[in-house]
Amino acid sequence: MTCKLLVLISGNGSNLQAIIDACASKHIDAEIIGVISNVPSAFGLERAQRAGIATAVVDHKTFASRAEFDTALLRCMQTFDADLVVLAGFMRILNAELVNAYAGRMLNIHPSLLPKYPGLHTHQRALDAGDAEHGCTVHFVTADLDGGPLIAQSRCAIVTGDDAASLAQRVHPLEHRLYATVIAWYAAGRLRYHDGHAQLDGKLLEAAVTV
Ligand code: GRF
Repeated sequence: MTCKLLVLISGNGSNLQAIIDACASKHIDAEIIGVISNVPSAFGLERAQRAGIATAVVDHKTFASRAEFDTALLRCMQTFDADLVVLAGFMRILNAELVNAYAGRMLNIHPSLLPKYPGLHTHQRALDAGDAEHGCTVHFVTADLDGGPLIAQSRCAIVTGDDAASLAQRVHPLEHRLYATVIAWYAAGRLRYHDGHAQLDGKLLEAAVTV
């Protein structure tokens, strides 16, 4: 049975586009059944509509509290019968109730080599720390922000003269390739969440796989 994906975005949606393209080319054997944005003007919504994918907006600014937003978002998510939820540049922190509703069925991509630099401004933080390399990570989502079980990472060198913008530009294409690869694993039944750990091809991942 084809894996049904629900993608959550907040912005440009270049990762969403990579997933749309990878589904179209059958690199990922899955169907995107919906895209939800918390930002009504997110360009990613246009990308989805162009691809004929159903979209919904749950605007966090229209809710009095985080809890009310999370409840509305969860309700909206449940209107889609998704096998896997994919956070693709979704810039809101989700509460435990929502995350637990999709335990082991929600992925996130983060622009750093986790566990380094959870949260924001990852490129600048890697530069400030004098790191020689940087990259991105896909992990299962738990209530621990950017702290769920690591699945896979892609790496690049930091070179003299780099700034946050040049690093972001180098990491972004890595994100696109990495996310498509990991989602393809999940859709093919190769990747699972078991007992708080990521499992690939039946083997517990002690560390993120390098892609
Ligand atoms: C990506 O760098 C992602 O890792 C981060 O937000 C950015 C989203 O980019 N969390 P896009 O909207 O997919 O172009």
